[in-house]
Amino acid sequence: MSSTIIVGLQWGDEGKGKIVDYLTERSDVVARAQGGSNAGHTVISGGVKYILHLIPSGVLWKDKKCVIGNGVVIDPPGLLAEMAKLRGQGVEISPENLIISENAHLTMPYHRALDVAREKQRGENKIGTTGRGIGPTYADKIERQGLRMTDLRDTSRLAHEVQWRAELHNLELQAAGQEKVNVAEVVEVITAAAEQLRPHIENTVVYLNQAIAAGKRVLFEGAQGSYLDIDHGTYPFVTSSNTTAGGACTGSGVSPRKIETVIGVAKAYTTRVGSGPFVTESEEMSSMLHGMGREFGSTTGRARRCGWLDGVLLRFSVMVNGADQIAITNLDGLDGLERIKICTHYTLDGKKIEYPPATVDEMKRCVPVYEEHEGWMQDLSGITSASQIPAKARAYLNRIAELAGARISLLGIGPSREQTLVLD
Ligand code: IMP
Repeated sequence: MSSTIIVGLQWGDEGKGKIVDYLTERSDVVARAQGGSNAGHTVISGGVKYILHLIPSGVLWKDKKCVIGNGVVIDPPGLLAEMAKLRGQGVEISPENLIISENAHLTMPYHRALDVAREKQRGENKIGTTGRGIGPTYADKIERQGLRMTDLRDTSRLAHEVQWRAELHNLELQAAGQEKVNVAEVVEVITAAAEQLRPHIENTVVYLNQAIAAGKRVLFEGAQGSYLDIDHGTYPFVTSSNTTAGGACTGSGVSPRKIETVIGVAKAYTTRVGSGPFVTESEEMSSMLHGMGREFGSTTGRARRCGWLDGVLLRFSVMVNGADQIAITNLDGLDGLERIKICTHYTLDGKKIEYPPATVDEMKRCVPVYEEHEGWMQDLSGITSASQIPAKARAYLNRIAELAGARISLLGIGPSREQTLVLD
């Protein structure tokens, strides 16, 4: 067995794209199993910056197969635009290296419109979504009225299938006082996209299982992070898919029995975008990191909220994901700090809390309890081996591993592929 799942242990943006890209060298197949174009994975390689939303970052490597699994939601024109941009950067994409599940659901223009309209209606209770139509697409999937990639195959029925759904959703847009989508335009856009995407559609469940049976190494590239998981995250301030390790299995059709390793990725501090509780949020961290030009979203450009590393979050997400290894990214973001805080636990109404509480209200009332570490005050971005890691940085990493309950196997000290160190 040689399948590995990579998941984010925080609120997304942990730098999974870079870790996946690094591990891709040892893999044959890279698969996405959940999320959609809300994700933004940045990979810098050979001085070139690539931003991926739907396409697995394995596409940047020659001779790797990329799979978009059944659990992913696909915005057809968005996917085509992403392909065009990557091709413009010299990346080859064909049905030979990119296959898409016939069961993956489609994010349609009316889903995007609904996402924006519903957020507006929620007012101060808004979730802070990316506006990419993710929630409404998964809602249609669960409601059993979604369109899937396989529907793009049947040209004789496609217009009809798009039409009635668009008209149905227009009723809600109209009731909300929002502009309706132009049904004829939607049909035209999707029909045109279908032509180009059709050659990529395949039964990816059979492909993946046969690949594993043949001894190929599959890497599952998680999108978003554990605290955006629809079941285990800070509900309702979450995304609409299972971002934790189990989602990789349901979203790909590969049995948990075929998974060998789960690697959790966490930043050396914490960030989140959108609304919702964030116990270790810190003004000091936000202004320092934004001042360094860091922590702006690759999908929406929004400034991320920043805070200290939260051991409570890590402890729980390592458990839920069954992560046996952790990759710590962005350690260099802390290079200039004299003192670094780690949250070891919370208190809630005077009681010690070691795992995050279930409700947002309780989470908002939690008080972080910190211990302080001495900073290493040294530029880490140029070090090339684990032996060069300063002792104070080592101590910080060891404490993270202890609090999280998993060993740290990889360390990111800068954005490029080369700035990844193997720790053991
Ligand atoms: P949605 O996934 O667009 O519905 O957004 C729901 C929540 O998940 C919002 O707080 C988003 O900011 C957050 N979110 C979605 N995708 C990502 C991601 O890739 N990184 C970080 N946050 C994300």
